[in-house]
Amino acid sequence: MSKVKPPYFYSWSKQTSPLTFDVDSSTDFHYISNNNKVLDFSSTSFQASFGLKNAQITDAITQQSEVLPLATPKATFKLKDDVSIKLKNLISKDIQGRIFWTSSGAESIENALKIARDFTGKDVIVSRQRSYHGASLGALSVGGDWRTQAVSTVDQWTLRIPGPETDPEAKEARKIIEGFGPEKIAGICLEVITGGNGVIVPGKKWYREIQDICDDYNLILILDEVICGFGRTGNDFGFHHYQDVLKPDLICMAKAITGGFFPMGAVWVNESLALNYEHKVLPCGLTNYAHPLGLAATNATLNYYQEVKENSLDKRILFFNDHLSELKNISSVKEIRSIGLLAAIEIDSNLSWKDFIQKRIFVYFSNNILILAPALNMPFVYLEEGFKKINTILGD
Ligand SMILES: Cc1ncc(COP(=O)(O)O)c(C=O)c1O
Repeated sequence: MSKVKPPYFYSWSKQTSPLTFDVDSSTDFHYISNNNKVLDFSSTSFQASFGLKNAQITDAITQQSEVLPLATPKATFKLKDDVSIKLKNLISKDIQGRIFWTSSGAESIENALKIARDFTGKDVIVSRQRSYHGASLGALSVGGDWRTQAVSTVDQWTLRIPGPETDPEAKEARKIIEGFGPEKIAGICLEVITGGNGVIVPGKKWYREIQDICDDYNLILILDEVICGFGRTGNDFGFHHYQDVLKPDLICMAKAITGGFFPMGAVWVNESLALNYEHKVLPCGLTNYAHPLGLAATNATLNYYQEVKENSLDKRILFFNDHLSELKNISSVKEIRSIGLLAAIEIDSNLSWKDFIQKRIFVYFSNNILILAPALNMPFVYLEEGFKKINTILGD
């Protein structure tokens, strides 16, 4: 652990007691820390879905840097067209939509919130009590965990509803929305499956009612696929599990869109909203809009993801879930929830994140909830290594 006070901040930490570990380099799936291999079992912060090294993606960035390493947002070029079409098709081949490029998850959320508010002329956004959408003020305002409470946000424009864990048919959600006055509400913003806050997988009834509420009152449905997107839950996108129920208006993406090798994000905008800007100015823009290096990384990631799907992703998911079931027998394990290669393990113990690092496994761990999200291309031998370590750490 680093002892010298650094000339930079540690995020989300008291600066005198941050959670850190030294990193010298990495291999495909391990950080190298003081000559030790530390297995990355959470795809870092859910972005490294294709490993910590991936020549197919990083070579594409290098090659693009020789052709067109940066460009004005005004630039039109083939890569921009091609990747936008590819991404649109991955979301849906049937529903028409357009892509607004960003550089992070929070920026995707911010732009989606702006478009929903601009389109409806209303301010209030409904969001789930237990959720996270990013650290900028708008995104933080629609989030619902300790990070929202840390600073003053624009929370006065947020209406919170309970999640499916306490309101499985969204009856309470409807009551809250109708009680508040749907005429003041622009839309509903939801992580399709809550990620960092505990892998809560809604049943179809919950989403059916949410979609009905949106239809009844013309509310814009904003889906946050920042964690769920690109195969994490076993489908291309989380909402594909609810394909027959959900009709999203805006879909926010980031993280694994480039495997984490370039800061990139995107918002898919349903054509019915996109048409609003044919003769009206789109009030959204970024200096690094559709950055060519990010587009090259996204393109290579989408190609690589197709290969992963064809190459045993299903088997990996089965293997992962079989090993998860075995953890149920450990007495400190209270509950396990999972979908695809994403799992939350609620435990009853005094363990801290450092206990995992000491056993050379990097996981997402807070409030006694362990979140596992290994890379989608992680070889079985490393998946096995991860579960062995977790078994030892949690073991009786
Ligand atoms: C579900 C979800 N949405 C949005 C974000 C924000 O993404 P970023 O940190 O890239 O701004 C995160 C970050 O963890 C997230 O988990």
